Amino acid sequence: HGAGALAPDLTGRRVVISAGGTREPLDPVRYLGNRSSGRQGWALARLAAARGADVVLVAANVEAAAPFGVRVVAVGTADELRTAMHAEAANADVVVMSAAVADFRPSAVAGSKLKKGSAGEPDSVALVRNPDVLAELVGSRAAGQLVVGFAAETGDADADVLTHARAKLARKGCDLLVVNDVSAGQVFGQADNTVVVLAPDGSATELPHGSKDAVAAGIWSTVADRLPAAAQ
Ligand code: CTP
Ligand code: CA
Repeated sequence: HGAGALAPDLTGRRVVISAGGTREPLDPVRYLGNRSSGRQGWALARLAAARGADVVLVAANVEAAAPFGVRVVAVGTADELRTAMHAEAANADVVVMSAAVADFRPSAVAGSKLKKGSAGEPDSVALVRNPDVLAELVGSRAAGQLVVGFAAETGDADADVLTHARAKLARKGCDLLVVNDVSAGQVFGQADNTVVVLAPDGSATELPHGSKDAVAAGIWSTVADRLPAAAQ
């Protein structure tokens, strides 16, 4: 992509990106969380703004300060992320779900700190499933809006990475699925990332291995190619 990486090909487009990882409270001081750093979503937001987009970053527990020119909506839980995404996605041209949304949350949140030796000392944590925000956003997608999902997959005894990813794309119904192959090592918290972008037409675009900025640039080029022509 080289010099084209900062082409103003997203000028006037409204883009909403979720990033980071949700935290699901157990009591006022404890939560169930995940290791997502939010770096890939942060890079997507920064580069979309650099390419002319009007960008909102719904950031779940992301440490980094807002990228230049990006409006950040800070959220904590999957439920907060869901509410923010529905509000912000309503008039967006592109919606990107790069956040690691907790699949489950504790079914009850203690109002006060759980104490050792108390009558209420737990021996297990009961969980309930969180709503699938990406599937909901696909369900309420406006005409012409592009919804992009992410998936970290490994191959296993049942199928290889791309077979699992194609099944997920079909299940979610999104317009693009950005797939991280995490079989070989860890992606979370690392600077580099290898991804393939799948589309429902069967295409698979392998992005050149590189930094999260390079991957973000490749994702935006793939998205820009698929956006309907901008209204004048
Ligand atoms: N996602 C979401 N809401 C959830 C879970 C996931 O919006 N409750 C989104 C993620 O942001 C990502 C996509 O769905 O864009 C795929 O997430 P992933 O965890 O790979 O998919 P799941 O459907 O949760 O499947 P799995 O059982 O493999 O975790
Ligand atoms: Ca999941």
